[in-house]
Amino acid sequence: MKIWRILLEKEIESFLLRDLEVLSFYRLECGVLAYEIKGLAENVFRLWQSVPQEEGLSITEIPEPGFLLRLPKSRLSLFWQGEPSYSKIILAPQGAFGSGLHPTTLLVLYLLDKLYYQGIKPKRILDWGAGSGILSLVAARLFPQSQVLALDIDFDSTKKCRENVIRNRLEAQILSFCAPLAAVKGSFDLILANIFLRVLTEDAPLVKDRLAKGGLLVASGFLKESTSFLLNLYQGFSFLELADKEGWQAIIWQKPDI
Ligand SMILES: C[S@@+](CC[C@H](N)C(=O)[O-])C[C@H]1O[C@@H](n2cnc3c(N)ncnc32)[C@H](O)[C@@H]1O
Repeated sequence: MKIWRILLEKEIESFLLRDLEVLSFYRLECGVLAYEIKGLAENVFRLWQSVPQEEGLSITEIPEPGFLLRLPKSRLSLFWQGEPSYSKIILAPQGAFGSGLHPTTLLVLYLLDKLYYQGIKPKRILDWGAGSGILSLVAARLFPQSQVLALDIDFDSTKKCRENVIRNRLEAQILSFCAPLAAVKGSFDLILANIFLRVLTEDAPLVKDRLAKGGLLVASGFLKESTSFLLNLYQGFSFLELADKEGWQAIIWQKPDI
């Protein structure tokens, strides 16, 4: 049975935990309450659904199986508490996309971890379509020498992202900004784009332009049926890696170094 760790902004009513076996709970420095429960994914989703968002409750600590298992190896543990040797990230998505559960997010996390192992040292990172800021937070922790721009066109997501940046005390490293890519100047060594296929398609020329020579693009947010279309669209870039999860795929491309 999987162990799930969840963090809640506020204490939850005991009836919400009724069918779950609570192993332990503890209060974090920031006042958030963490529960450790035994249970299946459906239980966590049920809990998620029964928590009224407007009351400011949100589940912020999710699982450790699958792809996420690799992240602790890079001394980064997502949503993890109680392992002092790991870096940790605390996240409160609250309406913004990016709890870490969705396959498209997991794929980027997986590929990011791989890039970390390959020893890349990006200085400027763009998280395009940042949502809750999950990818920016992870990238900032993996590459502490980098500056990260977390970009989203949705104002509420940007607000949430900023809160998460502050929650993790990464304000010096991550700038969260509400704007389209066209408003951004300069180039990036690494672009993380878990964004919609339509956006990846329409803004392809812009993305290519904003990537530095030799820069890496990790693109996600599309089903495998669209992968060959995207491979054509990004012709001229070196295709480095493809990852697959539950019908979704993600790709790493590299812009030529000349
Ligand atoms: C699939 S979510 C990804 C969230 C998070 N990065 C993750 O990996 O879980 C896509 C995000 O892109 C944002 N978005 C959609 N179109 C965009 C655009 N043209 N420019 C910037 N952000 C956009 C949405 O508001 C949403 O927050």
